[in-house]
Amino acid sequence: MRSHYCGHLNETSIEKTVTLCGWVHRRRDHGGVIFVDLRDREGLVQVVFDPTLAEAFGTAERIRNEYVLQVTGTVRYRPEGTMNQNLSTGQIEVAVQTVTILNTSETPPFQLDDDNTSEETRLRYRYIDLRRPQMQERFKLRAKVNQIVRNFLDNQNFLEIETPMLTKATPEGARDYLVPSRTHPGEFFALPQSPQLFKQLLMMSGMDRYYQIVRCFRDEDLRADRQPEFTQLDIEMSFIDEIQLRDLMEAMIRHLFKTTLAVDLPEPFPCMTYAEAMQHYGSDKPDLRNPLELVDIADLLDSVEFKVFAAPAKDPEGRVAALRVPNGKELSRKQIDDYTAFVAIYGAKGLAYIKVNDLQKGKEGLQSPILKFLPDDVVTAILARVQAVDGDVIFFGADKAKVVNEALGALRLKIGEEMKLTTPGWKPLWVIDFPMFDWDDKEKRWVALHHPFTAPNIADLTVLEQNPGASLSRAYDMVLNGSEIGGGSIRIHHPDMQSTVFRMLGIGEAEAREKFGFLLDALKYGCPPHGGIAFGLDRLVMLMTGANSIREVIAFPKTQTASCPLTSAPSAASEFQLKELGIRLRTAPKVDV
Ligand code: AMO
Ligand code: AMP
Repeated sequence: MRSHYCGHLNETSIEKTVTLCGWVHRRRDHGGVIFVDLRDREGLVQVVFDPTLAEAFGTAERIRNEYVLQVTGTVRYRPEGTMNQNLSTGQIEVAVQTVTILNTSETPPFQLDDDNTSEETRLRYRYIDLRRPQMQERFKLRAKVNQIVRNFLDNQNFLEIETPMLTKATPEGARDYLVPSRTHPGEFFALPQSPQLFKQLLMMSGMDRYYQIVRCFRDEDLRADRQPEFTQLDIEMSFIDEIQLRDLMEAMIRHLFKTTLAVDLPEPFPCMTYAEAMQHYGSDKPDLRNPLELVDIADLLDSVEFKVFAAPAKDPEGRVAALRVPNGKELSRKQIDDYTAFVAIYGAKGLAYIKVNDLQKGKEGLQSPILKFLPDDVVTAILARVQAVDGDVIFFGADKAKVVNEALGALRLKIGEEMKLTTPGWKPLWVIDFPMFDWDDKEKRWVALHHPFTAPNIADLTVLEQNPGASLSRAYDMVLNGSEIGGGSIRIHHPDMQSTVFRMLGIGEAEAREKFGFLLDALKYGCPPHGGIAFGLDRLVMLMTGANSIREVIAFPKTQTASCPLTSAPSAASEFQLKELGIRLRTAPKVDV
């Protein structure tokens, strides 16, 4: 039906007769001549209807935005002064000879170039929203990313293998999506939170190197970088250690950035321990484009009278940290109050600060609500520790370490953005040496920081069990510009270690058998040492396209409440379906028709 894509035409097409198909992006009637911007996946081109060609012109008078046209015409230069440098087809136009309206369109619910359309409307009419050139570019890049990683992994001898969607729960820390079984009334499949156990079984099957671009399902609270169904680039390898795995994976990401964005990422990626990341950035996914850092000062404060600082300084689980902000002196009282309210979201009980007006003048040159509580030598020591200079403001956090890390970690990011301290560019890194277990105070038990199949760095079971808090795991996260884009680990490959870790996590023998019996059995039949990683493909593409939410790079995403405005899913099931599945509802669904 067409000879060219609209967006592919350029000066080399001059004098050619072309046939194009596309949507009417805009129609302009210039008293006598009608201009139409015709749009397809590859771009826009101006097509011109001349009144002397009565039939085509008559048709052009009837067309409206988003009509679907087929036009045939001759490519020519645009007249001097009307060329558009911002458009790849901006030098040329098509003088139309014939036109066919392939389809009409009702007035679209929103203008394609209106950036203020609500997300609800965009998602409801997603098929129109996806016509926007920006969206088409995002999905072109996404397709290219898939292609490049497939080729890369294929060249490295990986096999692409599919794993079941109807399966048993894989614990990755979220709720499961359940699917009722008709043939086993009262029983349910779980949709996979990840293919974790299957990829490990594939290593036990001798597949050696596996990958899959795979949908995962997690019923968790949604945010800008989380969706209930999302895509992982999932990878597993046998007979490797963490260094080999990380080297190969960062080589893949470097190759990806080079070939798609012409960006050279560092070689190697910097590597930081979890402890260092928390200490300097209050986060296990530090954004290294932001120069601000947390500095520990508890040792300077454990004997002051000011309890707000002294108590956490003495508490082994406490932390007192300072965040020096260059030129922060300019911040108004109101801005500091806003920051105080901001850190309160993370549980901080206040936000003490010192403004450094003039260091030469000693205490006189400082401005702060806490000076009166602190001895002069302590203030001097704090200023020296954070390397304060005139013009700085120094913020303080004092509380349980968790609260201080979250509060100052988030404040660091907010101030970095607002004061434009965050530099552009790409800052990848690995975070390693995570604690193996984390104490859950609510449930009064140890929980796995990664997942329960991650190998600890202590091989001796007795030593491991004696002090769970001391063990680190062989896990690693890849972080890019403050986003966790991938995470993985070297796995447990001995059945007794796996049973020990389950026990330490409070998973009793019966429960372990019921949930993971197949894994424990498989581990007995010759399991190779193995490890792997999964990348959040949506997050990666979001960062690469500069989008601010993963919904922008998922064709048909869910809203914040995990529903789909386009199809109205989820929706009620018929009485007949429920009966067949042996299900009686405890609460009637809210019918939204
Ligand atoms: P993890 O749970 O860290 O590891 O997930 C891997 C990566 O997937 C992305 N991700 C998400 N993206 C969008 N929406 C979500 N709800 C969501 N949850 C996670 C993140 C994350 O880094 N089986 C292990 C991997 C392994 O050990 O090999 C796993 O799933 O970018
Ligand atoms: P107060 O004695 O409560 O008036 O606090 C004095 C200053 O310390 C105020 O600026 C508070 O915002 C700040 N502050 C109070 N609690 C904390 C805390 N846990 N961490 C950091 N600053 C705090």
